[in-house]
Amino acid sequence: MVLYPDVQVKARKEIHKVMGYSRLPNFSDYSSLPYIHAIVKESLRWNPVVPLAVPHRSTSDDVYNGFFLPEGTLVVGNTWAILHDESVYPEPMTFNPDRFMKDGELNSEVRDPATAAFGYGRRICPGRFMAYESMWIAIAATLAVYTIEKAEGPDGTPITPNGDYEQGFLCYPKPFPCKIYSHHIDQEALIRATARI
Ligand code: HEM
Repeated sequence: MVLYPDVQVKARKEIHKVMGYSRLPNFSDYSSLPYIHAIVKESLRWNPVVPLAVPHRSTSDDVYNGFFLPEGTLVVGNTWAILHDESVYPEPMTFNPDRFMKDGELNSEVRDPATAAFGYGRRICPGRFMAYESMWIAIAATLAVYTIEKAEGPDGTPITPNGDYEQGFLCYPKPFPCKIYSHHIDQEALIRATARI
């Protein structure tokens, strides 16, 4: 959100068009906020949490693209490469949720990153539906009430995060400063009301 402020503006417009400032999004809004789905998909794609998934072992001899894989071969699914395939996702290093949109709706013709981000086959992540929905509600609720921006250095210059990620089995952003605030009186009331639940 800090690096791509236009995405945030667009998401907020969609949210406020559907529910104004009177309440937080909930799962009854699931199909009314397609751009939030596009942000979730792009988040799963842009920097996948498990870039090389989990190694699998083949249970029988197999041939893939002319390569013979004997039974017992350790197979590592390259999720990163699949989700950065330029022929499927042009300019793959850019965070662009619009790649999943067409005429204001989700474009079902673009390959869903969930087909790779959660692993493969029989050992595919069993928590994927809960994970997806948790991301959806967290992103929708956060953007409904907060603006996320670059923090400023001591001389007032905005600090642009360098986009560095921890590299390893799990891939997540290194800490970076940012500014998170709410600028609408009703948004503040909503946050306070939620905290009391
Ligand atoms: C964005 C969030 C998540 C991502 C990207 C993710 C991704 C993955 C991946 C790549 C695997 C390996 C699949 C394979 O072997 O091919 C996995 C396995 C697994 N995940 Fe997730 N996961 C997420 C959230 C969750 C949640 C919320 C839960 C539980 C509620 C969960 C439970 C599991 C379990 C139990 C396995 C092991 C499955 C097995 O080996 O049979 N995950 N996940």
